[in-house]
Amino acid sequence: MPVVGLGTWKSAPGQVKQAVLAALGCGYRHIDCAAAYGNEQEVGEALALWIGPGKALHRKEVFVTSKLWNTKHHPEDVEEACRTSLAHLGLSYLDLYLMHWPMAFQRGKDLMPRREDGSICYSDIHYRETWMAMESLIDKGLVKAIGLSNFNARQTNDIISMARHKPVVNQVECHPYLSQTDLLSHCRSVAVCVTAYSPLGSGDRPWASPDEPSLLEDPRLAAIAQRYQKTPAQVILRWHVQRGVVCIPKSVTPSRIQQNLEVFEFSLSKEDMKLIESFNRRERFIVPTVEREGKRVWRDAEHPHFPFHDPY
Ligand code: A2P
Repeated sequence: MPVVGLGTWKSAPGQVKQAVLAALGCGYRHIDCAAAYGNEQEVGEALALWIGPGKALHRKEVFVTSKLWNTKHHPEDVEEACRTSLAHLGLSYLDLYLMHWPMAFQRGKDLMPRREDGSICYSDIHYRETWMAMESLIDKGLVKAIGLSNFNARQTNDIISMARHKPVVNQVECHPYLSQTDLLSHCRSVAVCVTAYSPLGSGDRPWASPDEPSLLEDPRLAAIAQRYQKTPAQVILRWHVQRGVVCIPKSVTPSRIQQNLEVFEFSLSKEDMKLIESFNRRERFIVPTVEREGKRVWRDAEHPHFPFHDPY
């Protein structure tokens, strides 16, 4: 799996095709997708221009990831969900298929099934049952490998203890404000690779509020970047790469897409690696929240498989 890939969450239809084309054109060989991002068809249009007989790339030269959404956890729904992503992406197999979250939502077409009061309708399917259905996708040749996303250490162990095909990746939010040191060393000890989503702090997350700190504008990063004659984004991405974390920066801007891949020709000193580690605020940006009694609270906190009650 190439250590830097293109993220496609939040890349609007109408923009994501150009982003994928720009990425493949400047050397990216790893594209991170998900059914829930609602743009796999357009990603597929870009892939079709690059991959296949008579095209610039063989299928095996590009690493493509997709994710099973929460409404498709029922074992009877898993294969169809995977086949839908494959059809949208125009591929015959995925390199990696992840369970997007450990929580299952009610089955159906609606990505966010809700009651009248706005609360989410959950399902009591256990993520272990879903995992077994995902294992069959390997047996059928639809995916090369399977993994997890947003699983805590305990849930990761839970899957490992019962898996016939082990999870190879846990994709989690990770950036200098949430450095995930404990989860990282745990995953390393059980041979699970960590991929960082929102590696640049996802300043464009839909619920960002102006009083939250902006990682890319942190003056301490600007100072480091200036010393290396790099941009803050490149310093952050280099930090991920140097600590052995795969990262999938999202951008729809060709110059940034290119810049984000140019992180292999310099290295950060040990001191700067530690300095960036010290920016950790243990703060999650990517947890869906709702307003309850005038307060913003974690939306799925009461779900029995909500991952973020554990320390890591
Ligand atoms: P855009 O897509 O408009 O280029 P993350 O990967 O952490 O989710 O961050 C994505 C956000 O970071 C997007 O707003 C994206 O903007 C922005 N971004 C991506 N690469 C860079 C870069 N090299 N410099 C500045 N901002 C960037």
